[in-house]
Amino acid sequence: MKSIIFKLQALAILSSLFCTVASKHWVQNQCHVPINLTLYNNTKLPDPFTFAGGGAKTSNASQWDCRRKQIGALLQKYELGHLPPKPASLTANITTSNATYLGTNYTTNNLNIQVTDRNKTISFSASIIWPTTGEGPWPAVIAYAAPSIPIPSNIATINLDNDDIAQQNDASSRGIGKFYDLYGINATASAMTAWAWAVSRIIDALESLPISEAKINTTRLGMTGCSRNGKGALVAGAFEPRIRLTIPQESGSGGDACWRLSDAEQAAGYVVQTSSEIVNENVWFSTEFDNFAQYKTDLLPFDHHMLAGMIAPRAMLAIENTAYVWLSPQSSYGCMTAARKVWDALGVSDRMGFTQDGNHSHCAFSADQQPELTAFFDRFLLDAEGVNTTVFKTTNETFDEARWIDWTVPKLY
Ligand SMILES: *[C@@H]1O[C@H](CO)[C@@H](O)[C@H](O)[C@H]1NC(C)=O
Ligand SMILES: *[C@@H]1O[C@H](CO)[C@@H](O)[C@H](O)[C@H]1NC(C)=O
Ligand SMILES: *[C@@H]1O[C@H](CO)[C@@H](O)[C@H](O)[C@H]1NC(C)=O
Ligand SMILES: *[C@@H]1O[C@H](CO)[C@@H](O)[C@H](O)[C@H]1NC(C)=O
Ligand SMILES: *[C@@H]1O[C@H](CO)[C@@H](O)[C@H](O)[C@H]1NC(C)=O
Ligand SMILES: *[C@@H]1O[C@H](CO)[C@@H](O)[C@H](O)[C@H]1NC(C)=O
Ligand SMILES: *[C@@H]1O[C@H](CO)[C@@H](O)[C@H](O)[C@H]1NC(C)=O
Ligand SMILES: *[C@@H]1O[C@H](CO)[C@@H](O)[C@H](O)[C@H]1NC(C)=O
Ligand SMILES: *[C@@H]1O[C@H](CO)[C@@H](O)[C@H](O)[C@H]1NC(C)=O
Ligand SMILES: *[C@@H]1O[C@H](CO)[C@@H](O)[C@H](O)[C@H]1NC(C)=O
Ligand SMILES: *[C@@H]1O[C@H](CO)[C@@H](O)[C@H](O)[C@H]1NC(C)=O
Ligand SMILES: *[C@@H]1O[C@H](CO)[C@@H](O)[C@H](O)[C@H]1NC(C)=O
Repeated sequence: MKSIIFKLQALAILSSLFCTVASKHWVQNQCHVPINLTLYNNTKLPDPFTFAGGGAKTSNASQWDCRRKQIGALLQKYELGHLPPKPASLTANITTSNATYLGTNYTTNNLNIQVTDRNKTISFSASIIWPTTGEGPWPAVIAYAAPSIPIPSNIATINLDNDDIAQQNDASSRGIGKFYDLYGINATASAMTAWAWAVSRIIDALESLPISEAKINTTRLGMTGCSRNGKGALVAGAFEPRIRLTIPQESGSGGDACWRLSDAEQAAGYVVQTSSEIVNENVWFSTEFDNFAQYKTDLLPFDHHMLAGMIAPRAMLAIENTAYVWLSPQSSYGCMTAARKVWDALGVSDRMGFTQDGNHSHCAFSADQQPELTAFFDRFLLDAEGVNTTVFKTTNETFDEARWIDWTVPKLY
């Protein structure tokens, strides 16, 4: 007993020495939330490149990787809730069922997944639609519910019923769904975090099956969803590095818009969705976020330019629509302008695209945006060469950088 106490004391002395002597270095190299982080009012968009808690500015790509992890930890702590790591065990298979509806025969292929963690087990399924021509393994796009963008005929689609994982009817949906059957109704994970966890399990499942059975190339995966499911697609792309291309569609506030910019857009007289509204509407965010959502978003050590930035250096195409003021279109344009600076810093600006038009229904994909969508699929899921993916366009929005950005963009490559 004595020796254990002695060892603990020695450890404490050693670590306090280390923290004192090398405190600056110690803080800046933490890839997680700094201990005793002091939150302060920041009316501008926070610097994606400077470690929280008095750390230094990132100066190379490996430091960005660490800062990226810190941003993910901060987002989990203050906005999205805890994302559990890989579960203890997972098994999967693919089953086929035939059904006839109105005289037409349909075949459905289901990827069935069983997960066990902390002595509890859940099962869920996602449907797989393989291309009907050519030979696998194919690239695949994972969609929440179903895609509302056209998926090329040589790319598979995997549809996840995300509401089955975490319900999103309204504010009373908190803690309901298979994720919470596994991790408990009091798990801090918000619905969007629970869905992202399920997407990671889909990828685990595909990786665990023989390639002749899954017929999916897991190094060529896309992620999409529209509206509320677009907000979720962005979160999944941010937290799951095995997703190569993230396509949030009309995700608006809570997605590719920034909280601070949406508050300013509302203050300028537009009726947009803001954090204070969103936390009462549904369970997309953690209960911890309630503390910030009521016009205290200036205290957040991040904003959604940094959520999107977590995807870098992987690829992202954000699709937006100016026809719906509620989506907070000025905020989306400004937020994604700020986000793209992370890709600029890494020397891969053309892996981040933004396309915003109007004059079409919510989640109805516009033919105007087809060229950029095709370019992103071709380059990042079909490995075509010589494809130009440089796109950053809006019909009419603007962004005052001097008002919102007070940091510089380092060269990390
Ligand atoms: C954090 O705060 C606690 C309580 O005030 C204090 O005991 C601890 O030493 C602090 N840790 C660091 C690393 O500053
Ligand atoms: C942040 O600013 C608001 C509005 O100016 C103020 O009410 C609040 O006390 C400030 N919070 C902190 C932690 O400084
Ligand atoms: C990145 O920068 C850090 C801090 O300056 C340094 O310790 C590290 O060796 C650098 N890493 C690479 C791969 O250059
Ligand atoms: C695999 O398929 C069978 C039906 O053929 C099913 O009963 C079983 O639960 C499935 N296993 C997994 C891991 O989903
Ligand atoms: C579904 O229908 C196809 C084509 O008729 C057939 O080959 C397959 O065996 C059927 N599968 C099941 C599970 O009934
Ligand atoms: C649908 O499948 C059934 C067998 O399950 C078959 O008898 C029928 O001809 C099929 N219908 C069409 C339109 O292919
Ligand atoms: C799982 O069950 C075993 C056997 O009942 C028990 O020893 C263990 O503590 C449980 N683990 C968890 C995480 O609850
Ligand atoms: C969840 O938290 C509440 C409030 O702390 C508690 O009363 C309840 O027992 C908890 N439920 C579970 C399943 O842990
Ligand atoms: C999967 O895609 C990667 C990246 O494009 C490629 O290198 C690899 O050969 C593909 N694997 C198979 C089995 O087709
Ligand atoms: C841009 O166009 C949309 C749709 O026509 C309109 O609702 C919005 O207010 C415009 N934005 C600005 C900044 O003028
Ligand atoms: C919207 O689309 C309709 C039909 O394509 C067209 O007539 C109209 O001019 C368009 N309006 C704007 C503002 O682009
Ligand atoms: C790619 O497209 C962008 C936007 O249309 C254009 O500005 C740029 O010059 C093109 N780059 C190349 C290498 O063709």
